[in-house]
Amino acid sequence: MNNHLLSLENRVAVITGGAAGIGLSTAKLLAEMGATIALLDVNESRGQEAIEEIGKSGGKAKFYQCDVTNDTECRNTVDAIIRDFKRIDILFNNAGVIVRKNTLDLREEEWDLVVNVNLKAIFLLSRYVIPIMITQGNGGSIVNTGSGWGLKGGVNAVAYCAAKGGVVNMTRAMAIDHGKHNIRVNCICPGDTDTDLLRGEAVQLNQDMKEFMKEAADRPLKRIGLPLDIAHTVLYLVSDLSSWVTGTTIVVDGGGLA
Ligand SMILES: NC(=O)c1ccc[n+]([C@@H]2O[C@H](COP(=O)([O-])OP(=O)(O)OC[C@H]3O[C@@H](n4cnc5c(N)ncnc54)[C@H](O)[C@@H]3O)[C@@H](O)[C@H]2O)c1
Repeated sequence: MNNHLLSLENRVAVITGGAAGIGLSTAKLLAEMGATIALLDVNESRGQEAIEEIGKSGGKAKFYQCDVTNDTECRNTVDAIIRDFKRIDILFNNAGVIVRKNTLDLREEEWDLVVNVNLKAIFLLSRYVIPIMITQGNGGSIVNTGSGWGLKGGVNAVAYCAAKGGVVNMTRAMAIDHGKHNIRVNCICPGDTDTDLLRGEAVQLNQDMKEFMKEAADRPLKRIGLPLDIAHTVLYLVSDLSSWVTGTTIVVDGGGLA
């Protein structure tokens, strides 16, 4: 195999929600493969820590504080990234939040938050990044983060299921629209992965953490996911190894959905 197929040398990768969990693990991996990372998050202190960590391992990264549900912040951040690094080749739409409530308990502002962070933000950021990829003329790769619960329903997570289902089909629509510019758009659907988001669900549901995590590990591969499990698949999707892959959804869940 041509080893260069996985190299991300000279590419600039924008990663949302990059200060923690899956986003942070992916930022480290893509930096290791040669990409320059523009790391976006609302959490400034954790964002700065992430940048330091990547820098210490020899990677190149810069933090941009950005609430990806805010259109003006998305536009200004993309402008700043172009001023700093001149190009954008990869966009990993990863930021997400979950509220574990059903239709009767969920408040309207909770619906708005969950749908805006998980779904609307992909639209907001992509509409500033795609024109840059088109102008550059050599395509690009966008990875949108869905979930197992974008493909099946889940208990007490009505807004999250709605948003993630939207992400799966929005990905197909984006792939159709932008394929002519060699912009590939794919969706990754993680299963239960050990991050603050997952552990926060146990807290929201008032469940014993140990029991919750044990249940989450009950799947064919008999373990919970690690952020790096997801990052490895994102690397595949943003590298040239997946050059004819677009509009698809990859489930990475230790067989949970099976
Ligand atoms: N962990 C899982 O089990 C799991 C399963 C399926 C899907 N996912 C999805 O994977 C993605 C990453 O989740 P994670 O588990 O790493 O979560 P996490 O909570 O560890 O990290 C999410 C990051 O997103 C940031 N963020 C939240 N709102 C933001 C906003 N408005 N603007 C910018 N940044 C914002 C947070 O500050 C945080 O750093 C999410 O889309 C999530 O829905 C996670």
